[in-house]
Amino acid sequence: MNHTIDFSRIPRERLPALLRTMPKAELHIHIEGSLEPEMIFALAQRNGVKLAYPNVEALRAAYAFSNLQSFLDIYYAGASVLLHERDFFDLGFAYLEKAAAENVRCAEIFFDPQTHTARGVPIQHAILGLSHACRRAHAEWGMHARLILCFLRHLSEAEAMATLEAALPWREQFIGVGLDSSERGHPPEKFAQVFAHARALGLHGVAHAGEEGPPAYIEAALDVLKVERIDHGVRSVESPALVQRLARERMPLTVCPLSNVKLCVFPTLADHNLPELLAAGLCVTVNSDDPAYFGGYVNQNYLETFAALPALGAREAYTLARNGFEASFASAADKARWIGELDAHFARAAAA
Ligand code: ADE
Ligand code: ZN
Repeated sequence: MNHTIDFSRIPRERLPALLRTMPKAELHIHIEGSLEPEMIFALAQRNGVKLAYPNVEALRAAYAFSNLQSFLDIYYAGASVLLHERDFFDLGFAYLEKAAAENVRCAEIFFDPQTHTARGVPIQHAILGLSHACRRAHAEWGMHARLILCFLRHLSEAEAMATLEAALPWREQFIGVGLDSSERGHPPEKFAQVFAHARALGLHGVAHAGEEGPPAYIEAALDVLKVERIDHGVRSVESPALVQRLARERMPLTVCPLSNVKLCVFPTLADHNLPELLAAGLCVTVNSDDPAYFGGYVNQNYLETFAALPALGAREAYTLARNGFEASFASAADKARWIGELDAHFARAAAA
């Protein structure tokens, strides 16, 4: 916490501009979840892929989800238009362009290779197209963009291991592994060996846990997979002992408020437990998850969450942005530079 900024000098009506302009990190974004309906149709045409929907409006109308699985079914179908390295570059660069415009300095991006290799797409088409987009974002805007390879937890550990092995010729193009897809019935311990192997290779580890699954899944992600961040983790509040542990270990939670409402984890944003998690001293961050499907990119997540929750003000905005930088896998020097920029941004706002 920064003790030199007088947050009380920043009135509520200035929050939206502050949230938009503050430098921030995004640590929970599935690149396939940034595939906008317009791009789905453009790529379908370019690649000769047949879609189940006649047009963008009909596809968008199908984006009404009752839980995680109802979303995943449509999300995997949308990704079927991604075939060539160029498609992955276009997808990654379109996201990074939006993120740069939203003052994202650091993006750690998930991708799901098994969604593509299952359709016969070589894994390097995804890895090389996306890593090229990351390098281009650095050249254009000085953005720090890195990739995290996610395993689909509804598939077997042997398939996850084969995916990791297939990716190893391009080991330098990604910084970690993650675990996503259907959470219920697929506990983290199913992937103990592949996470141990990834760790031995020097890769970071993160896992979705406690989105729909119970607190025990968060504990298993920590104890068995030895992850360094928990993606979502909102159901941790059901276990006070776990909340205490997450605070003590300063374990980051990459929370995605709009996603949680769209997938019915919370009925409305006003019911979201983000203020409770922050008040418990947890290292909470704000992220977009699958912005093309859930109603907005990272700034929209900040804006709508702060508008819905009166407990969130300028101090919380600072804390959330700072947590994002601290929880990233970037170097200590990069983190210090971004936090310095954040401090200056809030100091200026408090002096205005
Ligand atoms: N894949 C894409 N978005 C996801 C989410 N919110 N939970 C699990 N898997 C996902
Ligand atoms: Zn996610």
